[in-house]
Amino acid sequence: MAFLSDTLARVKPSPTIAVTNKARELKEAGRDVIGLGAGEPDFDTPENIKAAAIAAIEAGKTKYTAVDGIPELKKAICEKFARENGLSYKPSQITVGSGGKQVLYNALVATLNPGDEVIIPAPYWVSYPDMVLLAGGTPVFVTGPMETGYKITAEQLEAAITPNTKWFIFNSPSNPSGAGYSHDELKALTDVLMRHPQVWVMSDDMYEHLVFGDFKFVTPAQVEPGLYDRTLTCNGVSKAYAMTGWRIGYAGGPEALIKAIGKVQSQSTSNPCSISQFAAVEALNGPQDYIAESRVAFERRRDLVVAALNTCPGISCPTPEGAFYVYPSIAGCIGKTSAAGTQITDDEAFASALLEETGVAVVFGAAFGLSPNFRISYATSDAALTEACARIKTFCEGLK
Ligand SMILES: Cc1ncc(COP(=O)(O)O)c(C=O)c1O
Repeated sequence: MAFLSDTLARVKPSPTIAVTNKARELKEAGRDVIGLGAGEPDFDTPENIKAAAIAAIEAGKTKYTAVDGIPELKKAICEKFARENGLSYKPSQITVGSGGKQVLYNALVATLNPGDEVIIPAPYWVSYPDMVLLAGGTPVFVTGPMETGYKITAEQLEAAITPNTKWFIFNSPSNPSGAGYSHDELKALTDVLMRHPQVWVMSDDMYEHLVFGDFKFVTPAQVEPGLYDRTLTCNGVSKAYAMTGWRIGYAGGPEALIKAIGKVQSQSTSNPCSISQFAAVEALNGPQDYIAESRVAFERRRDLVVAALNTCPGISCPTPEGAFYVYPSIAGCIGKTSAAGTQITDDEAFASALLEETGVAVVFGAAFGLSPNFRISYATSDAALTEACARIKTFCEGLK
């Protein structure tokens, strides 16, 4: 009898964490490494949020809480959804988990049966397919190529839907491409979904606040109120408030689904950290200056990186609408050989040679389901980004 489960055998470890670990190892060995792999803001958590956590500790708010969130946080989340998204949820329609990741995972575990299909636009966040597999479902990929800004069309969505489709996972702005769907682009997708009442929508709005220029963020239940009763609107404080380590994510949706998610959580982790929940109340209710400040910094870095990458031979980098990622194509580098003699057969070989030869850590596109590309997380200093792009350029110029 095998010790490890068959389900686990279908799942791969997170490649983004693998790149981060490899970069750390090289750094510890004394190499000059610039890590552009990790998907988290480089800023510190704002002071008012840290102070709220300290106050919570001092007030003894260090005990178990309600499994799916304290009433104060659920109220703050309801107000946030109303204020920022025009969505009306009652506290009984809100669930809070240990990060957005847990909320998404719990929702899949709570709903998927063998044979159920989940449509995932590619390139996708690395965890979606594996979470679907862990929950017993079948991922179905729909590719949004660079030519359409890494977005899928209504026709593609229509063609992917079958009687077995249970969920459509929607992530805008996207990790890894930064692509954001405009109101009209999203409406075209929700029009399709309105014709298929068996399909639920899991909207991952984690990068809602990181949008640039005059791009306006929208979420499916807002664009098409007819989908409200079958949409789980997921969000969190990790990216918006530089709180990745605090582990608070949340979602609003139909009460029966929210209850089911709570049931899964009650038998696994129970409540998210009590202290982090009080910090999240302050994040949502307190001053929102950090969001605007970080947006300015990220937009400047996006422009810096896109401009620099487009001077590299063999690389083509569109300008994304949001998040803190770019997803350049390296089609022009494939088939060449690096200065140190590595054959660039695919994007994994490119990323690996780039790390070995220049010390720049990026994540290869195959990990996100669209090749040949790589992802840069530009959530690091302007100086590090400038130096990293200069090294990438030298590397590309050395390809023969
Ligand atoms: C698209 C997307 N969704 C969800 C998450 C999960 O965020 P967290 O669990 O920190 O709330 C991430 C984190 O990288 C992400 O990129």
